[in-house]
Amino acid sequence: MIDRGYTAISPGAIIQESLPDFRIYIRSAQGKYVLWALEGNKVSSEQLDRLSESGMTDVFVDLEEKFKYEQYLENNLGKILANDKSPIDQKAAIFSKVSTNVVKDAFETCLGMGTMGASAIQRTHKFVENALIFIRETKSLPALAKMIGHDYQTYEHATKVLWFTTVFLRNNLDVMELIEPNFKTLDAEKKFDMLSQCGVGALLHDIGKALIPQDIINKDGPLTEVEWEVMKRHPLNGLAMLLDTDLPVFVKKAILHHHEDFRGGGYPMNVDGKDINILARILRIADVFDAMTSRRSYKEPIPPLKAAQIMIGKPKAGGEEGDADHNDRDQGMKGCFDEELLRKFILFLGKMSLSG
Ligand SMILES: [Fe+2]
Repeated sequence: MIDRGYTAISPGAIIQESLPDFRIYIRSAQGKYVLWALEGNKVSSEQLDRLSESGMTDVFVDLEEKFKYEQYLENNLGKILANDKSPIDQKAAIFSKVSTNVVKDAFETCLGMGTMGASAIQRTHKFVENALIFIRETKSLPALAKMIGHDYQTYEHATKVLWFTTVFLRNNLDVMELIEPNFKTLDAEKKFDMLSQCGVGALLHDIGKALIPQDIINKDGPLTEVEWEVMKRHPLNGLAMLLDTDLPVFVKKAILHHHEDFRGGGYPMNVDGKDINILARILRIADVFDAMTSRRSYKEPIPPLKAAQIMIGKPKAGGEEGDADHNDRDQGMKGCFDEELLRKFILFLGKMSLSG
C-alpha cells in the first residue's frame, strides 16, 4: 500500500536487535505518521511485542527510503523466515516480494526478455507465496532459512529455477501427467497445488549447499579434486536435511537426482534414463540453463540462445570444428538431458521471448 509518501511494510520484516538503516513509522488513529524507530537503532523484542499486542498489522517507511528497506529484506531474508514470532502469511508475503524481484530482475537483464508484465509478476508472486506456505506445512522452513542465510546467491538461483520450472510446466501440462498420472482429473486447486509442489522441489533443489563451506561455493576459479568431491555431496546433504519433513517423495527424489545425467555418469547415484525422476530431469535442464545465463563475479551471462545451443550439444550456427566457441565442454553437455524435455523447454523459451 502506498499512502502520502509512505509505504506500508510488514512488522514481521523487522528483526529483533537488528539495525535497520531506515526510519520506521506507525500511523496514529488520526492518520498521522509517528516516528517509531530511528535508523541505526536496535529494535528490542519488547518493542516488537508491544507492536504485536497493539494489533497493528502495518508499519511504514518513507518512500524515499524504500530502496534501503528492500536491501535490508535481502540481507535478512534467512533470519526473517527463521523468526518464529512472525506469522507465516507475513513471511510468505515478504519472501514472495523479494523472490519476485529476483525473477523480474533476471527477466529484464540477463534473459533480455523485456519488462515483465503485471499478470506474470502476479503469477510469480502467487507461486512463490504458495511454495513457501507448502514448505512451512511440510516442516521444511528451517532448512530453507538456513540455506538463504548461508548463501544468498544459491537462493537467487533456486528462485529463478522455481520460476522456469513452474512456468514451463504450466505451459506443458502433458509433462505434469508424467509426474502425476491423474493430473487431468484433478480440480483446479489441486492442479495448482501440484505445480506448487514442483516449484518447492525447484526452490529446495540446492538446499544441501547450506552444508558446504562458503569458500568452496563462492570460489571464483576451478575447484580442486577434493573440493569437487565435497561439492558433489550437496544432493545427498539436501535429502538428509529434508528426510524428516513431510515433503512428497517425488520432491525428495528430485532433489537427490537433480545432477544425474540422462545418459548416465552424473552424481551422486549414477542412475540414468527413466530411473531419474521426471521433476529431477526438468530441474537438470532449468538448473544448467539458469547457471549459464546468469552473471557471476567470475563470468558474464551467456545469451539464452547460445546457452540452448550448448545444452543441445551443437556448435553455434556457422561455427566450425575448432571454433573457439565450440569446445569439448559444449559437446560434453549432449546426453546430460532428457532430449524430449529439452526440446519442449527450448520451445517454451522461444514462446517466452516472443511474448516478452
Ligand atoms: Fe545442484
